[in-house]
Amino acid sequence: MSATTGEIKRVTTHVIQAMKNRGEKIAMLTAYDFSMARILDEAGIDILLVGDSASNVMAGHETTLPITLDQMIYHAQSVVRAVNRAMVVVDLPFGSYQSNSEIALSSAIRIMKESGAHAVKLEGGSEVEESIRRILHAGIPVMGHLGLTPQSIYKFGTYTVRAKEEAEAEKLRHDARLLDQLGCFALVLEKIPAQLAKDVSESIEIPTIGIGAGQHADGQVLVTHDMLGITKEFKPRFLRRYLELFDAIEDATKRYIADVKARNFPSDAEQY
Ligand code: KIV
Repeated sequence: MSATTGEIKRVTTHVIQAMKNRGEKIAMLTAYDFSMARILDEAGIDILLVGDSASNVMAGHETTLPITLDQMIYHAQSVVRAVNRAMVVVDLPFGSYQSNSEIALSSAIRIMKESGAHAVKLEGGSEVEESIRRILHAGIPVMGHLGLTPQSIYKFGTYTVRAKEEAEAEKLRHDARLLDQLGCFALVLEKIPAQLAKDVSESIEIPTIGIGAGQHADGQVLVTHDMLGITKEFKPRFLRRYLELFDAIEDATKRYIADVKARNFPSDAEQY
């Protein structure tokens, strides 16, 4: 249970907003399966994001683009089954909301109805305004996502820091205000300069959740597999690793193999 929010029974959009209002940072991590979600929820995480990064870390794709709506719903169902306290937010995958607002709404409804999650997240600003309006009108909470938006990686051509130039920074400020006014309940800011994230966080009502966006965002998010050191090669500057789980699991697996080969497992006490 979190030290500061121990009394909260269920994290909702209101709880998230209240955290920003009283200056309490919001902690978010990704989850894609039941077992991991249960651990993160029991540890007191505020928001679990069923991210489309599942495409990379669970399925081994190079980008987030291939994952489907059905696959996102499967991951979301597993996470929802595990969670008692955290708010569960699910990414609308690439292709499930960009073409028009009707398709966007039906994708969001499928996620909410079939998984039991509490909100959806989608990437972009003014380009997806109509879709956001329509999803919000249906009573579904929406988390925005600006800056480095991985579903547009082939347009960007690189995973480098976004909005360093004034024109892109101004567009991001404009989009952040728009998402705030439309009624999104939170906004992910990915890989942008810390000063820009600070300006945006101070100029909008809703909480910002940073990843590679510095210390002034209202909350932080990391991909759990990166934070735990399961994805060994991924080492961007913004990532802090709290475990080296790849090495720990590899070591345990080697010891298991050695025990089996040496007939040390199972022992007398481990059989019927
Ligand atoms: O899919 C994801 O994991 C995300 C986070 C990086 C914010 O969108």
